[in-house]
Amino acid sequence: MNKIAQIFETLEYGPAPESAQPALDWLKAHDGIFGHFINGAWTRPGKTFSSDNPANGQSLAQVSEGTAEDVDKAVKAARIAFKSWSALSGYERAKYLYAIARLVQKHSRLFAVLESLDNGKPIRESRDIDIPLVARHFYHHAGWGQHRDREFPGQVPYGVCGQIIPWNFPLLMLAWKIAPALAAGNTVVLKPAEFTSLTALLFAEICEKAGLPKGVVNIVTGFGDTGQAIVAHPDIDKIAFTGSTEVGKAIRAATAGTGKGLSLELGGKSPYIVFEDADIDSAIEGLVDAIWFNQGQVCCAGSRLLIQESIEDRFIAKLKKRMASLRVGDPLDKAIDIGALVAPVQVERVRDLVKKGAAEGAQVYEPDFDIPGGGCFLKPTLITNVSPSHTVVTEEIFGPVLVAMSFRTPEEAVALANNTRYGLAATIWSENINLALDIAPKIKAGVVWINGTNNFDAAVGFGGYKESGFGREGGKEGMGVYMKPAWEKDLKPAAAAKAVPAKSANPLDGGDSIDQTAKMYIGGKQARPDSGYSRPVHGPGGNLVGEVGDGNRKDIRNAVEAARAALGWGNASAHNRSQVLYFLAENLQYRRAEFAARIREQTGEKGEAEVDAAVERLFAFAGWADKYDGAVHNPPLRAIAAAMVEPIGVLAIVAPAARPLLGSVALLAPALAMGNPVVLVPSDKAPLSVTDLYQVLETSDVPSGVVNIVTGDSAVLARTLAEHDGVDAMWYFGDAAGSTMVEKASTGNLKQTWTSRGLNYDLADTGKFEGDYFLRRATQVKNVWVPYGA
Ligand code: NAI
Ligand code: MG
Repeated sequence: MNKIAQIFETLEYGPAPESAQPALDWLKAHDGIFGHFINGAWTRPGKTFSSDNPANGQSLAQVSEGTAEDVDKAVKAARIAFKSWSALSGYERAKYLYAIARLVQKHSRLFAVLESLDNGKPIRESRDIDIPLVARHFYHHAGWGQHRDREFPGQVPYGVCGQIIPWNFPLLMLAWKIAPALAAGNTVVLKPAEFTSLTALLFAEICEKAGLPKGVVNIVTGFGDTGQAIVAHPDIDKIAFTGSTEVGKAIRAATAGTGKGLSLELGGKSPYIVFEDADIDSAIEGLVDAIWFNQGQVCCAGSRLLIQESIEDRFIAKLKKRMASLRVGDPLDKAIDIGALVAPVQVERVRDLVKKGAAEGAQVYEPDFDIPGGGCFLKPTLITNVSPSHTVVTEEIFGPVLVAMSFRTPEEAVALANNTRYGLAATIWSENINLALDIAPKIKAGVVWINGTNNFDAAVGFGGYKESGFGREGGKEGMGVYMKPAWEKDLKPAAAAKAVPAKSANPLDGGDSIDQTAKMYIGGKQARPDSGYSRPVHGPGGNLVGEVGDGNRKDIRNAVEAARAALGWGNASAHNRSQVLYFLAENLQYRRAEFAARIREQTGEKGEAEVDAAVERLFAFAGWADKYDGAVHNPPLRAIAAAMVEPIGVLAIVAPAARPLLGSVALLAPALAMGNPVVLVPSDKAPLSVTDLYQVLETSDVPSGVVNIVTGDSAVLARTLAEHDGVDAMWYFGDAAGSTMVEKASTGNLKQTWTSRGLNYDLADTGKFEGDYFLRRATQVKNVWVPYGA
C-alpha cells in the first residue's frame, strides 16, 4: 500500500462537515416558530406545522398554516404597496433589487446551510449552485428594473402576483419568481412549499434589511389549500406556479375566465441523448449532474438516458462503475454527492415507481454500498430493459432514478426523445457539431444543452413546451410574462353581435337561388361538411346571401390532422414564409373589388377599406416573418445560449364575428409568419369572405394543410378545438362564457390560449396589432446551450 497509484485506489474521504450552528441559531432567535411575513411585519403564529430535516427526521421549526384570511391580508397589503412600488422610477426599483442581491451574497453561507437542513440537498450544491444563482438572479433583474421602460415600451406590470413554488429549489424558485415580478413593478404574495419554508422566511428578513417598502413582498406559508386560496383570490392579477403538472392543470382550470395572467413551470421527463461519437467520460460526468443533482428532484432532470446501441454496453458498464463511487450521506458533509430526498412521502413515491418498473419487467440496478438509515436516503438507481410505454419511462419519477433505452439512428433518437407529453429540456452529447446542431431544433423542449447539462443563468429563459407548461423564467422572455400592454385595461365589453332574423325559418326556403354552398378547406382541398348540413349566411337586411357547410367534430378532427401533417411549415425558411405572405397579399389586392363586394353583401358596409387593411396586415407580417427572431445570450459559463424563436405548433383560431375578412386575416397572418399551421373558424355570421379565400390561398403557394378552414357554429367548433390534444395553442374571439370554456377545456394538453373574454379588441388598430402582440403568442423560445470560448 505504498504505491501512489494504490493510495489513489483506496483513498477514502474523511468527513468534512459544515456546521449547522449558524442556521440553528437563526431559528432559535425566532424561538423556532414563525408567523407569516405580511406588510413588512411578522404575524402572530397561527396553527402551525413542522418543517423537518429530511436527513434525520427531526423538526427544525414550526411554521404557520396560511388561512384564506391570511392570504387576503397579504393581498390587501400588496395591493396598497403596488401603488407606490409601481410608481417608483426604474432606477429606484433597481437599487432595491441590487441591495437584495448584495445581502443574499453577504449571508450566502447561512442561506446555504439552512437550505440544506430543510431540504436535504448537499451543501456543495446549495453553497455552489442554488445560492449563487439566487444572487445572480437579483443582480440581473436589477438591470431589468432600471431598463424596463426602454426595453418594454407601452408595457405595465400586472399588479399583485400570486406565486406558488415547489420544494426542490426553495430559494432559487423564490428568486426566479420574485426578481422579475419586482423588476417589472409588481408586488407579490408568495407561498413556499410546505416542506421547505425556512429560506423564504429568512429571505423576508433580507427584504426588511434591504429596506424594501412594506407590502411589496409578502410570504404566506402553508399547504396546498393555502395555494388554492391564492389562486382563488379575486384581487390577484397574475399567478405564477412551479410544481407538478397535475396541480398546474388544476390552476389552469381554476383561473379560467378570470382574466388572471398565468405562467406554469411543470414537470418533465427530459431525454439525455448520447451518440456513439460522444466524449464518453464527459457524458458520464454530465449524467451524474443530470440525474443525481439534487437527488434527481429536478424538473429538467435528464431522467431518460437514450444511448446509441453501438456504445450501449460500454457506456452502461462505465456508468455502473461511476454510480458505485457516488457518495450518499449527510447533506452537510461537503464531500457528499447525494443527500436526502425532501420528505418520506417522496421516498415512498419513488420506491413505488421503481417497484412498478420492476413489476413491468424492468431491470433495476443499485450500487452495492450502504446508505445511512433514519433519513430520506435512496441509492442512485439505474433502470434498464424498458420499452417506451413502461410507466417508469413515461412518468416523472422525481428521484435519483435513471431510465435507460437505446436507439440506432439519429431519427430514432429524436422520435424517442419527443415521445413524451412533456417538453422541458434535453441534453445532446456528440463530438460531431453537425449532428448535435441538427438534432437540437428537432427536439420539442424549451431548453437544449449540447455537451453539457443543467446549466442555468438569469439571462437565459427557462421553461417548457407541451405539458411542461408555458411562460419563461429568466431573460427578456421571463420579464415579458410579468407585464401586459397598458391599453388592455381600457378595453370595454364588445357590443353583442346583432342577431339577424332570417326571413324564413324553413331550411328549404331561399337556398335554391344560391348556386353553390361553400365547402370547408382541409389539407389544401375543398371538402364537404361531414354533417351533410349547410348554414345560411344572411345579409344585414336578413336576406340570404349564401350558404356554408355546417362543420362538426369530425371536420375539426380532419382539419387538425391535416394541420399536423403540415408542421413542416415551421421549418420553411423565414424568407420563404415571408414570400408566401407577400404573395397572398398581392393576390388578395388583385381581387379587391370582388372581396369588397362580398363584405358589403354580408355587412352592408363598404368593403374596400377592410380589404385594404387585410392586404396591409399580410404585408406587415410578411415583413415580420424574417425579423421576429432570437438572441444569443452570454451567460457566465463557458457557453452561449442561442434563444431560438420557434412556432408553437398547430394553432387554432376562432375569428371574431365582426370584420369578416380582416378579423381572420389579422390572426392568420402572424400565426403563419411564425410557422404555425392553422385551423381557422371564420366569423360564423359572415364566413363568406374567408371561404372566398380558398382560391387566393391556392394561387399564393400556401402549402396544403398550412391553412385549414372549417365553417360552422363558432361556439360548438371552439369546444372541439379546445379539447383536441392535436392543437397546441388557441386564440379565441368571442364572449366571456366562450372564453372561459376555451380556457377550461384546454387543460387536457395545457395548450396555450389567448381569449378576448368578450372585450372589444379592435383588430383594425395597426398600432396595437401589427407588431409583437400576436407574434409573441405565436411563438415559444427554445434556448440552445452550446459550448463556446475558452
Ligand atoms: P405540488 O405540485 O403539489 O406542489 C408544488 C406547490 O404547489 C407547493 O407549494 C404546494 O403547496 C402547492 N399546491 C399544491 N396543491 C395546490 C393547489 N391545488 N393549488 C395551489 N397550490 C397548490 O407537488 P408535490 O405534491 O410536492 O410533489 C408531487 C410530485 O410533483 C413530485 O413527485 C414531482 O413529480 C412533481 N413536482 C414537480 C416539480 C417541478 O419542478 N417540476 C416540483 C415539485 C413537484
Ligand atoms: Mg423541510
